[in-house]
Amino acid sequence: MGTRYIVASFEAKHFNAEENGEEELRLTTGDQGQGGSKAPALQRARVLSGMRPTGRMHIGNYFGALANWVRLQNDGAYDCFYFIADWHSLTSDYADTSAIAQNSIEIMTDYLAGGLHPDKSVLFLQSLVPEHAELHLLLSMVTPLGWLERVPTYKEALENVKDKDLHNYGFLGYPVLQCGDIVMYGEPGLPLCVPVGEDQVSHVEIGREIVRRFNMFYGLEWDDNLQEKSRAWQCGKIFQALAVPGGTLSESDFPLKDEKWAEFQSRATARVLEIGFANAVERLKLALSSDALRLIHILEEPESMLTKTPRIPGLDGRKMSKSYGNTIMLSESDADIRAKTKVMVTDPARKRRTDPGNPDVCPAYDWHKLFSTKQTLEWAAHGCRTAGIGCIECKAKMADHLIEWITPVRERRVEFERHPARVLEVIDEGSKRARKVAHGTMERVREAVFGWEKKRKEIDGAAGSAKA
Ligand code: TRP
Ligand code: SF4
Repeated sequence: MGTRYIVASFEAKHFNAEENGEEELRLTTGDQGQGGSKAPALQRARVLSGMRPTGRMHIGNYFGALANWVRLQNDGAYDCFYFIADWHSLTSDYADTSAIAQNSIEIMTDYLAGGLHPDKSVLFLQSLVPEHAELHLLLSMVTPLGWLERVPTYKEALENVKDKDLHNYGFLGYPVLQCGDIVMYGEPGLPLCVPVGEDQVSHVEIGREIVRRFNMFYGLEWDDNLQEKSRAWQCGKIFQALAVPGGTLSESDFPLKDEKWAEFQSRATARVLEIGFANAVERLKLALSSDALRLIHILEEPESMLTKTPRIPGLDGRKMSKSYGNTIMLSESDADIRAKTKVMVTDPARKRRTDPGNPDVCPAYDWHKLFSTKQTLEWAAHGCRTAGIGCIECKAKMADHLIEWITPVRERRVEFERHPARVLEVIDEGSKRARKVAHGTMERVREAVFGWEKKRKEIDGAAGSAKA
């Protein structure tokens, strides 16, 4: 089970949303893309990602995730779906939900300030698309417990998180819900990319396995023609090749009618599930030359899209994290940016102004690389190595560039903060659009699992002929 990554890298200086051209987003909604008979409106790969609403975003979140989302949105090669995973917050914060709604508004405000645009991406709230819960339920049926218990983030959280009790059913199922989030927006035959950080790769990976298993249960199709009398010998060969236990079908059973055909399929399929699809196909190929068995992609397997993100340590040099208090928020004021960066950690070996320093080990220099011009970078590196400049001066210059970068983002943020109703409207409208796609997926999924459409037609047909 090899992990598949798409590795994308991009330049720090290209993060700004406005630099990119406008690209119209045309979506294949459920009604256009469904049924296979009508060609999808377009063949763009799908992109889906989300964040839990844990509060406002800091520049670490921005460069670690959002900047890349914006880049994909503006690339023109993808249909992008970005959402707020409020149900995922619930898996651990079920005891106190008071902050989740406001935090969801904050996150969407940051999405918009950071450059996501509702005309270009589908921006939505998970709990406004209840189909996610239904898909989660169906996926949970085919997910072995052992897979979930082995997920590294699960084991770590159980060991490390002490202030919450995580021994709940929902938390164990976290990756199943995440799998549903992702595959809901997959279109059969199109790549489904999930831009995430390293920490989420194991979740995408288990998602791939769940989808594979789901498709095996509900996407195996035996060639209809096998029911014919002339194919009886092939059915016999299939039973033989797969070593299906119990007796074989007799010549007189053919042509296979409803019950006998159903029996053939379920017995043969049960063996395919036991020995694996690839193995079964191999054996069938040796036994008969025709393609008796097909695997339909009811759901598309997702792929992690790992992006090399630039290093942006916290003010203290550790990983930037709200719980360490070492962040700069997207909403941070100039005064706070100056005050905080002034005392920011630098090359620890540079104790006195007269000591030469090493920018390669300096967190402030990592920030320079993100925000400063080429000239400033050269000035800082040279001045540092020759003790030509002091750290205070160096960091002040970095702060100038940081402020220059953050100003338009912050302005957009303030604007949306003043108009939370607009943010809510983006959430509501985007969720409606997401729901259309989700409808299409769920129709396909429900039919694959239960076959109710087929059953209805049978009953309607029988009723019709009984009347006649
Ligand atoms: N687990 C993700 C995180 O903590 C959030 C998330 C939920 C997600 N569903 C997703 C991310 C689907 C990508 C795709 O960051
Ligand atoms: Fe870092 Fe600049 Fe000080 Fe060098 S001069 S250690 S790059 S802050």
